[in-house]
Amino acid sequence: VSDQITVAVVGASGYTGAELCRLLLQHPHVKLTGLYARSSAGQPLSKVFPQFAGRLEQVIEPFDADRVEARAVFCALPHGESAPVVAALAARGHVVLDLSADLRLHDAATHETWYGGHAAVPPELRARAVYGLPELHRERLRGASLVAVPGCYPTAAILAATAFLEAELVLPDLIVDAKSGVSGAGRGAALAYHYPEVEGGIRAYKIAGTHRHTPEMEQELGARVTFTPHLVPMSRGILACVYMRPLDPTVPAARYHEALRARWQGEPFVTVLPAGALPDTAHVRGSNRAHVSVAVDERVGRVIALAAIDNLVKGAAGQAVQCLNLAVGLPETLGLDGVAPFP
Ligand SMILES: NC(=O)c1ccc[n+]([C@@H]2O[C@H](COP(=O)([O-])OP(=O)(O)OC[C@H]3O[C@@H](n4cnc5c(N)ncnc54)[C@H](OP(=O)(O)O)[C@@H]3O)[C@@H](O)[C@H]2O)c1
Repeated sequence: VSDQITVAVVGASGYTGAELCRLLLQHPHVKLTGLYARSSAGQPLSKVFPQFAGRLEQVIEPFDADRVEARAVFCALPHGESAPVVAALAARGHVVLDLSADLRLHDAATHETWYGGHAAVPPELRARAVYGLPELHRERLRGASLVAVPGCYPTAAILAATAFLEAELVLPDLIVDAKSGVSGAGRGAALAYHYPEVEGGIRAYKIAGTHRHTPEMEQELGARVTFTPHLVPMSRGILACVYMRPLDPTVPAARYHEALRARWQGEPFVTVLPAGALPDTAHVRGSNRAHVSVAVDERVGRVIALAAIDNLVKGAAGQAVQCLNLAVGLPETLGLDGVAPFP
């Protein structure tokens, strides 16, 4: 089809890379023209990921910016590895969607503090990158040539809490308590993520202001964040519970629900559950949807906002495809409108 957008994926042998390939294959206006990685180069994608057998047999190539023939390129690389690849592609005029953290923070000094100084990003590139959360930055994403796709935890926390901060119903001082499936750590498994180390338990990690997604949440929410992430024994999914103090404790619970509904009305991928219903990662698994809700503990004066997403879809690859649609002028929901398979 002549109106197809040519697209390449760098990091195709990783978890978000595989998810990008799955979503791009079912996108009606996309033609996948290149798959790139490092150690997996030379192998067909279907050997690295057998789910693609018979559907996408393309061979993964070593990345070489000069050989990329695609209008848009997704970079699904570890942070630090991504910046030079993004810089090379941006210089050659491709639309670049970077799934790493390298360009997400607007302030270079904040990036340096949290990620260290390796792979310094050229300042003009950082300034040009649009934070790829369409629910906050849709107009800037239209026609964008460089997108910093958000992290998975920040996506969940921002979609949970934004409505109440914007409506000035809560103090800008949040506790984000979130649980993630193990695929959030990527395919390059370390010991801590092996099945026997994860199965049968649940643990918090990188607490008390040490997780790198903290400044990203603070940047987009304009609030102080205490973040406690947890690893839970499931492959996919994030559930974020955000605890907030109401500015006025006499405001009734219904007002919070109303604020949530008003903020996300018309959003194709954010569903406000009926009052009293609570999100479940099983209901968004494999889809680009976020389910959100709010409850108020009037006895102690606390507002609890919840969001469930699939970390690999709305938390990464699906959101990146949503940004591609906006960047190249396609309908935002194209290729993404599936419902989660359940059970
Ligand atoms: N997993 C999630 O839920 C999630 C959510 C949001 C954002 N992200 C971000 O998305 C990025 C990718 O995450 P992931 O979970 O997909 O990681 P992953 O499973 O570890 O995959 C990383 C990929 O990068 C490739 N790679 C590494 N260095 C490379 C280089 N110099 N040149 C070419 N390819 C290179 C690897 O290829 P080889 O193994 O073949 O060398 C592999 O395909 C990370 O920045 C991560 O923080 C992840």
